[in-house]
Amino acid sequence: MLSRVARRAFSTSRINPYKVTVLGAGGGIGQPLSLLLKLNHKVTDLRLYDLKGAHGVAADLSHIPTNSVVKGFTPEEKDGLKQALDKTDVVLIPAGVPRKPGMTRDDLFSINASIVRDLAAAVAESAPEAAVLVISNPVNSTVPIVAEVLKSKGVYNPKKLFGVTTLDVIRASRFISQVENTDPTTEHVTVVGGHSGITIIPLLSQTKHKMLDKETRDALIHRIQFGGDEVVKAKNGAGSATLSMAQAGAKFANAVLAGLEGERDVIQPSFVDSPLYKSEGIDFFASKVLLGPQGVEKIFPVGEISSEEEELLAKCKETLKKNIEKGEKFVTQA
Ligand code: NAI
Repeated sequence: MLSRVARRAFSTSRINPYKVTVLGAGGGIGQPLSLLLKLNHKVTDLRLYDLKGAHGVAADLSHIPTNSVVKGFTPEEKDGLKQALDKTDVVLIPAGVPRKPGMTRDDLFSINASIVRDLAAAVAESAPEAAVLVISNPVNSTVPIVAEVLKSKGVYNPKKLFGVTTLDVIRASRFISQVENTDPTTEHVTVVGGHSGITIIPLLSQTKHKMLDKETRDALIHRIQFGGDEVVKAKNGAGSATLSMAQAGAKFANAVLAGLEGERDVIQPSFVDSPLYKSEGIDFFASKVLLGPQGVEKIFPVGEISSEEEELLAKCKETLKKNIEKGEKFVTQA
């Protein structure tokens, strides 16, 4: 007869055999994100890659007594990136430079586009079946970059590519709870569109707070759209959101793993290859997504929205289309 502890250990390793790779694990997001993944019992093999610092982070995390092996990899080792990606189930990409005060996410394109392109090429080669979760900004353009690279290598699976927009979702819950003096854990706001400024559309009309006066509502929408600027300003040149982003990234990764594992009704908003506005030339759009064993199982439409939100959506689509095209052209016209 197995002891309770032994049974638990057995069941944990049997049910949750997932390998997860973080590319950019030594950075401001990468480190706390890796910590949260080390604490996730669904993860049994955690691979950390960065140009610098990955071994230190891996050694540090490896002392935490959870059921996973952690290994660090750098480009100095032969096939470091390849080994980090080998047979992995989920790849998270927070590699790249963050914003400084006065910068928009789009200003990061010139540096981050090539970082993400090169990492996507490595994913295509070493982990073509993995779910890829893109955190590096500008997400509206970096996700199309990954898609184009995977397409060019013949391994693109639209069900397995995600732009992580969860930070907008958790900010929306927090900010609305501050306005309405409620428990943020009970607030659920669907955020659709993209992940930058006016492309972020929190659907407040679908929450229980429909009666907010216009001034309060406009201020709340603006804070959700530009909440990242508060952190960039407060950090005063030392980067953008890292800790709240790590929490958001770990939450979304956990949802993807839960879907892969066959858990039912796992629904999260994400920026994905979406049929919703393709006829208008918008190939990617964030909306609620049902996650399952194959990745994206179903993409939900935005649903019934207010006339004000219709206006926000129209403006979002204009910008989003340009951001997506910029990413796609970066790869196809190189
Ligand atoms: P950071 O500068 O602290 O860390 C980035 C890490 O990426 C560094 O350790 C760097 O060595 C590594 N790196 C750079 N090029 C690499 C390569 N080719 N291969 C592997 N690693 C590489 O930056 P931070 O604050 O962690 O932000 C990372 C990215 O995440 C930025 O682009 C930022 O804009 C974005 N971000 C995204 C959010 C979202 O909601 N999706 C929220 C906040 C930030």
